[in-house]
Amino acid sequence: MTMNVLGYATHSPTDALAPYRFERREPRPNDVVIEILYCGVCHSDLHTARNDWHNTTYPVVPGHEIIGRVLNVGPEVTRFKPGDAVGVGCMVDSCRHCAACEQGLEQYCESFPTLTYNGVDPHDRMTTFGGYSQKIVVTEQFVLKVPDGLDLAGAAPLLCAGITTWSPLRHWKVDKGSKVAVVGLGGLGHMALKLAKGLGAEVTLFTRSPGKERDARRLGADHIVLSTDAEHMEAAKNRFDLIIDTVPYVHDLNPYLPTLALDGTLVLVGYLGDLDPMLNTIPLVMGRKAVAGSLIGGIAETQEMLDFCGRHGITSDIEMIGMQDIDAAYERMLKSDVKYRFVIDMASLQA
Ligand SMILES: NC(=O)c1ccc[n+]([C@@H]2O[C@H](COP(=O)([O-])OP(=O)(O)OC[C@H]3O[C@@H](n4cnc5c(N)ncnc54)[C@H](OP(=O)(O)O)[C@@H]3O)[C@@H](O)[C@H]2O)c1
Ligand SMILES: [Zn+2]
Ligand SMILES: [Zn+2]
Repeated sequence: MTMNVLGYATHSPTDALAPYRFERREPRPNDVVIEILYCGVCHSDLHTARNDWHNTTYPVVPGHEIIGRVLNVGPEVTRFKPGDAVGVGCMVDSCRHCAACEQGLEQYCESFPTLTYNGVDPHDRMTTFGGYSQKIVVTEQFVLKVPDGLDLAGAAPLLCAGITTWSPLRHWKVDKGSKVAVVGLGGLGHMALKLAKGLGAEVTLFTRSPGKERDARRLGADHIVLSTDAEHMEAAKNRFDLIIDTVPYVHDLNPYLPTLALDGTLVLVGYLGDLDPMLNTIPLVMGRKAVAGSLIGGIAETQEMLDFCGRHGITSDIEMIGMQDIDAAYERMLKSDVKYRFVIDMASLQA
C-alpha cells in the first residue's frame, strides 16, 4: 500500500509553498520508512522552488537535509531498526554499478543519481518529493546513521551543507597546517569554517558583509578578508592551498585567483553556469593554480563526515522555523540574513 503523506510544495516559480498531500511508494524489501523530525533549508531548495536552474518539475516538495527516526524497515534491511536516528541527504539512489558508483562516488553516477526531490525514481518513474514532509521512504543504502550525542536539529544541515564542504576538504587533503579560505558565510560557508578548523587548518573567510566578523571567528575563522576591499585582497596574495567558493550567483573569480598559493585550487560549490567576467588565466599559468568544481559527496564519505562531527561535537548553527515560515525564510536567505541555517521543525507541519 502506498502511504499518503502531508508536505509543503510549490506549483510554480512564483507561488508560495503550501500544504500538499501526495503518495509515498509502498516500501520495498530494502526500504527504510522514516518519520521526518527536522529538515534544513538549503539555498538549492530556493533555486529549485523558483526554477533558477530551468529544470524544476512542479509541484515540487523541496528539502534534502533530513533527520528523522526509523518507523519501520523492510525484511531485507540489516543496518537499521525502528527508533534509530537517521539522516537522508541530497540523493536517494544511483545506478550502483558504474565506475563512479563502484568507487563510492554516487554523486557522480554516470546515469546521474536519483535526487531526493525533483528527481525520478528509476524503478517506478515517480517524481521524488523531499524532506518538507512528514515521512520519507528510502532504500537502506542511502540512509545515514546519526552518531549518538549530536543534537538532531543541528545535525540536519550536515546532510548537505556539511558533506558539500567536507568532500572538497578531503579530496584536496586538507589537514594540520593547510591554509583554507571560504568565500561566503551562509549555510555552506559556516560549515566549511567549522569542518576546516576541525581538520586543523588555518582558516580564512572572504565575505562581502562587514557585520559577520565576530561570528566568523566564533565559527572557526582565524582571519577575515573583506572581498570588497582591494587592499585587503592584495594583502592576501599567494596564501591559500584551497579556496571553497560557496557564492550562489555569478560573480568575478579573478580577484580570488592571486590569493591562491602555488598549486592552490579554487573549488566552486555554489554557482552553476557561465562565468562573467571571463577567467584571466595568467595567475593560473604563473602559479600552477586550478579552478575546480565539486558536487555534494558520496554516501560512505557522508557517513565519515557525520562520524567526524560526532567525535568533534560539530553541528550547524541553526535558526528553527515552522513549516509555514518557509517563504519568509527564503526571502531572508536572498538577503544573506541567515545565522547560519534555517531548520524546519516538522512537528509544525499542518494541513
Ligand atoms: N555543489 C553542491 O553540491 C551544492 C550543495 C549544496 C548547495 N549548493 C549551492 O551552494 C550555494 C550556497 O548555498 P547556501 O545554502 O550556503 O546559501 P546561503 O546560505 O544563501 O549562503 C550564500 C552566501 O554567499 C554570499 N553571497 C550571496 N549572494 C552573493 C553574491 N551575489 N555575491 C557574492 N556573495 C554572495 C553570502 O555570504 P557573505 O554575506 O558572507 O558574502 C551568503 O551568505 C547555492 O547556490 C546552493 O545551491 C551546492
Ligand atoms: Zn543542499
Ligand atoms: Zn552509477
